[in-house]
Amino acid sequence: MDDVDAPRALPPLAAARAEHPVPVVLDCDPGVDDAVALLLALAAPELDVRAVTTVAGNASLDVVTANAARVLDLAGARPDLPLARGAAGPLGRARRERDEPVHGVGALGGLDLPPSQRPVVEASAVEVIARAAAQRPGELVLVALGPLTTVAALLALHPETADDLREVVLMGGAAFCEGNLTPTGEFNLRCDPDAARRVTESGVPLRVVPLDATQRALVGPGTTEPLLASDDARGRAVGLLLQHLSSRQRDADGLEAAAVHDALAVAAVLDPSLCTWVEGGVRVETSGELTRGELVVDTSAGTGRARTDWARTARVAVDADASGLSRLLLDRLGA
Ligand code: BDR
Ligand code: CA
Repeated sequence: MDDVDAPRALPPLAAARAEHPVPVVLDCDPGVDDAVALLLALAAPELDVRAVTTVAGNASLDVVTANAARVLDLAGARPDLPLARGAAGPLGRARRERDEPVHGVGALGGLDLPPSQRPVVEASAVEVIARAAAQRPGELVLVALGPLTTVAALLALHPETADDLREVVLMGGAAFCEGNLTPTGEFNLRCDPDAARRVTESGVPLRVVPLDATQRALVGPGTTEPLLASDDARGRAVGLLLQHLSSRQRDADGLEAAAVHDALAVAAVLDPSLCTWVEGGVRVETSGELTRGELVVDTSAGTGRARTDWARTARVAVDADASGLSRLLLDRLGA
């Protein structure tokens, strides 16, 4: 029995509104789709981005932090927006690297962005997130777009932050579909299953955006081409990033469209109706010889027919509206 305290109720699933922007911290490992997600979030008046933090994943911590700074410059983010470094490697056993460079040259698909002069704050990502959460108790949404190492460290060092956070929205896992790294393993969770397990056990309300949803929200040439032709440098950059993802997808399965995983997680904060959600308890497998990193969802958790004693702390996206995501990208970044 691991859920002793009564679970917190899941916060309402409401669309973000520009009149009351949702305070968010973006924890990321840019990464092509992370870059699209950052640009989308920073272009959205419905979100108040309070800080950006990094975690090793798609590339080393140095590379993803430098990439985040470059993307923030492109986004026109205010110079004093805190950018903080997080975990440089997983909590537990060594990270399983991808066999091929999915994110291409420099982990930004070859996108040529000038080096940034933007400072990285001295405080660690953990301290920056804990402070941001304490400043807005019950309001801050932590959007986790990479391995969950920094988030797990945060909850270990500052357990009170689990209460301060409104929600953790995370891109990760393959709930009822195939993984993209192993048959059951998705990259972010598989990179650090021990961290992911701790986050799922923390009791913090979770909104999980797994491959089940992101692979349904494919973005095709109807979106990429107008973005490439945009007058706005951000739109053209997103067009190039999408082109990189599409070319990889074409090589893999002949499809001329791309899953923009992390951008869907940000889109799900802006407009949760873009995804179809199921509620339940979630855990991540940490010891399975074949299944380490697998996301396990128990939709019976917390009901009268519960098969586990897990608290019902998660919403999991099982489908997504591809045209809705495309419209959002065009609307916010295509001008
Ligand atoms: C996730 O893995 C990373 O490569 C992407 O940035 C995304 O966060 C998709 O499995
Ligand atoms: Ca990512």
